[in-house]
Amino acid sequence: MIIGVPKEIKNNEFRVAMSASGVHELVGNAHTVLVERGAGIGSSIADDEYALAGAHMVDTAAQAWQDADMVVKVKEPIASEYQYFRKDLVLFTYLHLAAEPELTKALIDAGVTAIAYETVQDGRTLPLLAPMSEVAGRLSVQVGAQCLTAPAGGKGILLGGVPGVRPAKVVVLGAGVAGTNAAAMALGTGAEVTILDININRLRELDAIYQGRLKTVASNALEIERSLVDADLVIGSVLVPGAKAPKLVTNGLVAKMKPGSVLVDIAVDQGGCFEDSHPTTHQEPTFRVHESVFYCVANMPGAVPNTSTYALTNVTLPYVVQIAAKGVHRAVAENAALRAGLSTTGGRLTNAAVGAAHGIEVIDSLEVAAHH
Ligand SMILES: NC(=O)c1ccc[n+]([C@@H]2O[C@H](COP(=O)([O-])OP(=O)(O)OC[C@H]3O[C@@H](n4cnc5c(N)ncnc54)[C@H](O)[C@@H]3O)[C@@H](O)[C@H]2O)c1
Repeated sequence: MIIGVPKEIKNNEFRVAMSASGVHELVGNAHTVLVERGAGIGSSIADDEYALAGAHMVDTAAQAWQDADMVVKVKEPIASEYQYFRKDLVLFTYLHLAAEPELTKALIDAGVTAIAYETVQDGRTLPLLAPMSEVAGRLSVQVGAQCLTAPAGGKGILLGGVPGVRPAKVVVLGAGVAGTNAAAMALGTGAEVTILDININRLRELDAIYQGRLKTVASNALEIERSLVDADLVIGSVLVPGAKAPKLVTNGLVAKMKPGSVLVDIAVDQGGCFEDSHPTTHQEPTFRVHESVFYCVANMPGAVPNTSTYALTNVTLPYVVQIAAKGVHRAVAENAALRAGLSTTGGRLTNAAVGAAHGIEVIDSLEVAAHH
């Protein structure tokens, strides 16, 4: 199979859909990989690295799209890329179609077989979303530490303290993928860390792992208030699948917090779990609420594209390898995780949530698989 890797052209997107090791793996399996020149620059991966791994470097996006059987990307295509859609094209990328009616229509009209990273589902986990939550969770402590410095408007406190000086108090709301990664990083700095979740089994697991070094607390309004009033850094990382994030931290509660405390809302991409959260950018990441600093960047992994690219391609590659080896229809028929990711094929929509969002009729992906 010929696999195309175009350069990402969405504003401020520096990741790329395949690392040089991914190219090497596919080329080793007798596939051809077309990489658009410069595609890896934003992630600090030079063209030479790709070429050494066996990629065939192409000069234009058109070549990476038109000469490929399957295109792998990071972000959903933008309008200028719709021209490359065709019925024998397989597209594997983040799509977020429920928020993209025009893209949905363009994919259906052209008959593209599109598989969305974010809906690939293995059991109860979303394996192609998890690495970005890991990145955001770990980064939240790094940015939070920076925001706590006096020049950044924070209370001028070092997370780990020093010998003889108390460490900072870090509170993590939500003990999922992002939250546990945040807690692990915060513990690593020497901070005093408390994590809250409504899922007591999750807290049990963490308690067993950390043997008392991490405080676990059942999440409810009273415990959140108790934990937050003397917290230095709060990290919001809750998720209710398919819904907006619950507003766990009210404006009134922020007013009770100490001046210069910092609140990082990772869940801002789902509406945010603090009442005053609104999405910010890497250029202007913070704003003040009462006397606290809020950090609400909706695309945190974008700050560390090198790490994010490797993390993403580590998890997408096994699926790319399967699709390349079997062809998309057999791969989808044989792999339920991949089937959950199938969004459009042969001019039909196969994702129920997207269908409900746009009022488009949906066919069962199993039915599609059975036809091939
Ligand atoms: N800002 C970014 O750049 C960025 C990047 C990646 C992920 N995210 C977002 O981070 C959020 C967390 O993602 P995740 O992968 O860790 O999700 P996850 O499903 O792994 O974890 C969410 C956790 O929140 C818990 N939770 C739900 N309601 C709660 C409540 N009321 N109190 C306490 N805990 C509660 C759940 O029990 C679960 O353990 C999501 O909104 C995701 O979209 C943002």
